[in-house]
Amino acid sequence: MSDDASTGSDAPSPYTQLGGEAGVRALVDRFYDLMDLEPACAGIRGLHPTTLDGSRDKLFWFLCGWLGGPDLYQQRFGHPRLRARHLPYAIGIAERDQWMACMQQALAECGAEPALAERLHAAFFNTADWMRNKGG
Ligand code: HEM
Repeated sequence: MSDDASTGSDAPSPYTQLGGEAGVRALVDRFYDLMDLEPACAGIRGLHPTTLDGSRDKLFWFLCGWLGGPDLYQQRFGHPRLRARHLPYAIGIAERDQWMACMQQALAECGAEPALAERLHAAFFNTADWMRNKGG
């Protein structure tokens, strides 16, 4: 995985394909709603602050750039240093898989085309797997 999920070709970016800012916002909101609601994701929900408003904004800003749209996260915080920023949280296979379950369902529910959903699933998985910082 490079710095973002775009291909560098002339094809529309995943950001555009998802519907731009409104589409990415809807994806992130669904993702965190699922994390909040699904008992199976209580493990990673417990790593997050009580209110998810700030987490929603940060993931939204980050994903806009990562999906090939405007670099809203970088403009605010500089380089994401994503792995370093996750080191305070113990992330293993269970946490990675809970995160992926929420994202996979959110992608499906937000109406992403199957080919796009499959491609993004692979890119998210690589990034989530790279975030692991503990055994198990
Ligand atoms: C592998 C499982 C993951 C877990 C358990 C996890 C958990 C967390 C937690 C607890 C926070 C802090 C939330 C807050 O301060 O409001 C966070 C922040 C963040 N996460 Fe994750 N995360 C995971 C994977 C990912 C992935 C795959 C991405 C991107 C594709 C991502 C992007 C972010 C971003 C952009 C932030 C904000 C960083 C900051 O500025 O502090 N995370 N994550």
